[in-house]
Amino acid sequence: LRCTLAARMEAIGVLMMCPMNNYLEEELNKRFNLFRYWKQPRPSEFLTQHAQSIRAVVGNATAGADAKLIEALPKLEIVSSFSVGLDKIDLTKCKEKGIRVTNTPDVLTDDVADLAIGLMLAVLRRICECDKYVRRGEWKFGDFKLTSKFSGKRVGIIGLGRIGLAVAKRAEAFDCPISYYSRSQKNTNYKYYGSVVELASNCDILVVACALTPETTHIVNREVMDALGPSGVLINIGRGPHVDEPELVSALVEGRLGGAGLDVFEKEPEVPEQLFGLENVVLLPHVGSGTVETRKDMADLVLRNLEAHFANKPLLTPVV
Ligand code: DGY
Repeated sequence: LRCTLAARMEAIGVLMMCPMNNYLEEELNKRFNLFRYWKQPRPSEFLTQHAQSIRAVVGNATAGADAKLIEALPKLEIVSSFSVGLDKIDLTKCKEKGIRVTNTPDVLTDDVADLAIGLMLAVLRRICECDKYVRRGEWKFGDFKLTSKFSGKRVGIIGLGRIGLAVAKRAEAFDCPISYYSRSQKNTNYKYYGSVVELASNCDILVVACALTPETTHIVNREVMDALGPSGVLINIGRGPHVDEPELVSALVEGRLGGAGLDVFEKEPEVPEQLFGLENVVLLPHVGSGTVETRKDMADLVLRNLEAHFANKPLLTPVV
């Protein structure tokens, strides 16, 4: 029975949207009939040619399944995302067409929350700048400017889901009072604010940890940044479009905002060049979940979801 199942799976067309993880790609290739979308010189011809055999799409935080792709694949049954974020998948279209959707929650929560704390420390204690200074051979005793203390700073979190809560838990260990904004008030010991501006006015560090939706696009706008103020720090571990990037650049350049730690950008992998010269920002290439251990767990979740679907078993992490 196992052999028949494996043989049946090998015939199933799976479309991987972009390079994401070598282990995942190898395993998909072993188990299914794998198509690599990013290697197709003429994507629309490719889709027409293979439309009848592709039954699954594997996407990630940068390339998912939009309405056009879904419409082009009439045999599509499942979209499995190598990410927790679902903003690159047209969920409405999937629901309409009865296409299942899975993602990779939980396994990456610790890594993303760890990185948020790393960014807070890096920005406030200017870790990257200190490192460059030592490497340039400029170290003389007592001449590096003093930095800002992290312990005890008031941390405000936008979105108190799994990742937001994990950030809160970690920040509490640094004696940081926690407050938050979310669509609804949660039953926690943390202080709730009903607006992001209010939250920003009452914290030193504002962390974006919510999902990207039309409602949360540019949730951090000029008003929020001004409420955070010249000593405030913005940490974005969510998605680039959560923040109005041109406004962020102006706020940082004009000194209306104290600093920023950014793992995500509006038009990745493009990063506004004005940020390169600023010492009060730390810029990361969207690596929230980027550890060997977690990426392996995420890959296994994608594989197990696909296998479960094609074996008519319950999905491990169903979204739709
Ligand atoms: C996610 O899973 O959505 C992360 O952004 C990927 O690192």
